[in-house]
Amino acid sequence: MLNVPPVMEKRPLTAPVAWPVLPQIKLGSHVLDNNVVLAPMTEITDRPTRLLNKRYGAGLVVSEMIAAEGVVRNAVVAAQKATFDARQGIHSVQLAGANPENMAAAARTNELAGADVIDLNMGCPVKKVVNCMAGSYLMKEPELVRDIVRRVVGAVKVPVTLKTRIGWNEEMKNGVEIAKIAEAEGVQMLAIHGRTRAQMYTGKADWHFIRRIKDAVKIPVLVNGDINTLDDAVAALQASGCDGVMIGRATQGRPWLLGQVAHYLKTGERLPDPSLDEQRAMILEHIDLAVELYGEYSGIHHMRKHIAGYTRGIVGGRELRMKLNAMVTKDEMKSAIETLYLGISF
Ligand SMILES: Cc1cc2nc3c(=O)[nH]c(=O)nc-3n(C[C@H](O)[C@H](O)[C@H](O)COP(=O)(O)O)c2cc1C
Repeated sequence: MLNVPPVMEKRPLTAPVAWPVLPQIKLGSHVLDNNVVLAPMTEITDRPTRLLNKRYGAGLVVSEMIAAEGVVRNAVVAAQKATFDARQGIHSVQLAGANPENMAAAARTNELAGADVIDLNMGCPVKKVVNCMAGSYLMKEPELVRDIVRRVVGAVKVPVTLKTRIGWNEEMKNGVEIAKIAEAEGVQMLAIHGRTRAQMYTGKADWHFIRRIKDAVKIPVLVNGDINTLDDAVAALQASGCDGVMIGRATQGRPWLLGQVAHYLKTGERLPDPSLDEQRAMILEHIDLAVELYGEYSGIHHMRKHIAGYTRGIVGGRELRMKLNAMVTKDEMKSAIETLYLGISF
């Protein structure tokens, strides 16, 4: 008689991963429209960019980092970075610094100027910031983190949030410790970039490590780093178990991406990009808003990187980008955009 092996039940190697179901996030009296948040980016997430991202569906937009010392000194640039358009909804201002007293004073100044949320930067890896013991350097000084958070939370009535990394370096992956301190001192939401400071922007964001932080606290946690597509957003949420996503670089020139991600997470449906006509109108408005904020010379300069983003993958975009640096007037820039986009549409 043949020795027939028993029929084995076929099981998938890994259990299917559930579609992320996200909770409603509240910051004080504010409820986020959705849990897809624009990451703060220096010289990028300014007033015009925040407005456009919000209009196209972001749940929350955060200002670029503002030096607390600049706020305390009354520096023009600090005030300019903190200005906001009421149409952006919740106004979250990110502060950077290492001096608890100045951080608290800067938070108070911004609260009085209309900030709805104060976000603390404890993740910036750049030398200029780290050398001042600010940004990600603070991960090396947990007691200073405690002091800063305590002073800021005590100084303002608005909610305080905090953005950091998973650690200082491979040997000091203390994101959990920092998160617990932040929560204990009254921080209401965390955003975690899944890299250490030592990695800067190299390697790959470790969404799985962020799960340890998420599991260690009760406040909402946003997963951040290398989320470039709708599928990345789902994968990052599945890997981290987080309550929402924060997206930075992938939004440049695509202020509609956050809205697409939010819609996908809610419905599983992939919305198309806006038509080229809509994109053209959006860029023209972006140019106007930038010139209104910075004046013509500086506004045009600011717009170069945005236009580089908008025109990526557009026929004729490369040729336009090569001419960008020579453009000095708003009319010149706008007519180049008109020509490019109208040329494609018809
Ligand atoms: C040009 C640039 C400027 C940035 N400026 C800030 C900042 O001001 N504050 C901050 O917390 N993070 C800043 N970041 C980090 C981003 O918020 C984000 O954590 C990082 O880019 C990873 O997310 P992403 O892969 O979605 O871009 C900056 C990143 C870039 C590329």
